[in-house]
Amino acid sequence: MQHETILILDFGAQYRQLIARRVREAKVYCEVLPWSASLEEIQSKNPKGIIFTGGPSVVSAKDAPIVDKGIFDLGIPIFGICYGVQVIGHLLGGKVERSAEREYGKKPLHVTSNHPLLQGVEKETTCWMSHTYYVSEPPKGFKTIASTDTCPVGAIANDVQKIYGVQFHPEVVHTPYGSQILQNFLYHVCGCKGDWIMGDFAKEKIAALRAKIGDKKVLCGLSGGVDSSVAAALIHHAVGEQLTCIFVDHGLLRKDEGDEVEEFFKGEFKLKLIRVNAQERFLSKLAGISDPEKKRKIIGEEFIRVFEEEAKKIGKVDFLVQGTIYADIIESGSKHGATIKSHHNVGGLPDHVDFEEIIEPLEDLFKDEVRAVGRAIGLPDYLTERQPFPGPGLAIRVIGDITEEKLAILREADYIYRSEIAKAGWDKHIWQYFAVYTGIRSVGVMGDERTYDTAIALRGVTSTDGMTADWARIPYEVLERISTRIVNEVPHVNRVVYDITSKPPGTIEWE
Ligand code: XMP
Repeated sequence: MQHETILILDFGAQYRQLIARRVREAKVYCEVLPWSASLEEIQSKNPKGIIFTGGPSVVSAKDAPIVDKGIFDLGIPIFGICYGVQVIGHLLGGKVERSAEREYGKKPLHVTSNHPLLQGVEKETTCWMSHTYYVSEPPKGFKTIASTDTCPVGAIANDVQKIYGVQFHPEVVHTPYGSQILQNFLYHVCGCKGDWIMGDFAKEKIAALRAKIGDKKVLCGLSGGVDSSVAAALIHHAVGEQLTCIFVDHGLLRKDEGDEVEEFFKGEFKLKLIRVNAQERFLSKLAGISDPEKKRKIIGEEFIRVFEEEAKKIGKVDFLVQGTIYADIIESGSKHGATIKSHHNVGGLPDHVDFEEIIEPLEDLFKDEVRAVGRAIGLPDYLTERQPFPGPGLAIRVIGDITEEKLAILREADYIYRSEIAKAGWDKHIWQYFAVYTGIRSVGVMGDERTYDTAIALRGVTSTDGMTADWARIPYEVLERISTRIVNEVPHVNRVVYDITSKPPGTIEWE
């Protein structure tokens, strides 16, 4: 498949995939290569443009990552970001100096030229800076087109050679015109048309997976969450029956969830799915345990043991699929190019499953991109738009020790909450919403009788990444309906409260 390609040369930037994401958002296909890629490899990709990322190094240091200077003679437009512009400055005879102190954060940006790279950018705006070194004098043939108070050479341009660079970070949201600047580079400098779509990613990924897997066997743990569902569906599209999925039902799922996952993937998708009904096993291990971290540990370990036992029955497989997405990699701080990434160990990788290699088809994607791929390959909305659900499931939403009875009460209350939110059309506006079995009993009156029963808490938050969150302003009328229904329909619940704590200081989950 031939389409416009942008190459991103990675100089060790933590957020290189954020640049990739911005390029994809501009509907241009891109690939990330290490800075050390050879000129032949670069040319073989036939790129319309090359972006140098930032990085933690200093260009003048002995072992600094530096590209072959010949890259500037390939006739391919180049755009350097932060360390990337310093590489340009250093190699082409400009001056790179250390500033008195590290410049970090939002800074005023002054646009000093009507350059196409800065088309549509306000003359006075802001940009995000994070650097100690900077280009103090641009190389010959370059002009300065923007500056900040501490960085006179904020952006440089050489229109003859089509080489450009900025000291700030256009890829982060704190640079309001950052996406615009990147798009200007892609459309105006590189001449990209922007006709690539996420569906193309899916098609190419499926073709690449098919080529890689050949006639070999693949095993995948399926939880019904967005990431594992999309990963499994991609592999299934690629190799069909060669994929076996194991779905461990730990009995801590929401109402009907296990059946829905099984029905969809087995029924509609015809996927080879083994559902392990391990509810009793998990509940007996969890009996009497109140400490949230102990609960998590028990569930995590037991999950792996059950998975291993099932995998053993299947025997040796060639590949194990992980639904890792880019956020998981950032969070566990793993390095580009490492074969087994640290988050596997954090999350727990089965020790006793006989496999040769891990496949992570979603490792470069952000959550919303994973959802877009899911939609492109025909997964229904209820799978792709699903709210985040923690691995330990309802175990961390029953405060204190877990019993079947408490789980049953929680499931019903949670089900009513979710149904009413969906009915009111609020499910699109809330990041996560769920009921909590508080373990508190309180006095109430029902009919003419005094009750002393369970209090259910409702949590609903807005967020973009789950790292910070605010409580969702669900309309009172909707809350009222939910509260009335829960108290009327769920035995043993006589009180409903709504949690109005943001994160921080609260967390999203109660445990
Ligand atoms: P907190 O409660 O830390 O949650 O504000 C942030 C996000 O992470 C989810 N979460 C978990 N996910 N295992 C998971 O897979 C866990 O143990 C766990 N704890 C919290 C939570 O649902 C929210 O989306």
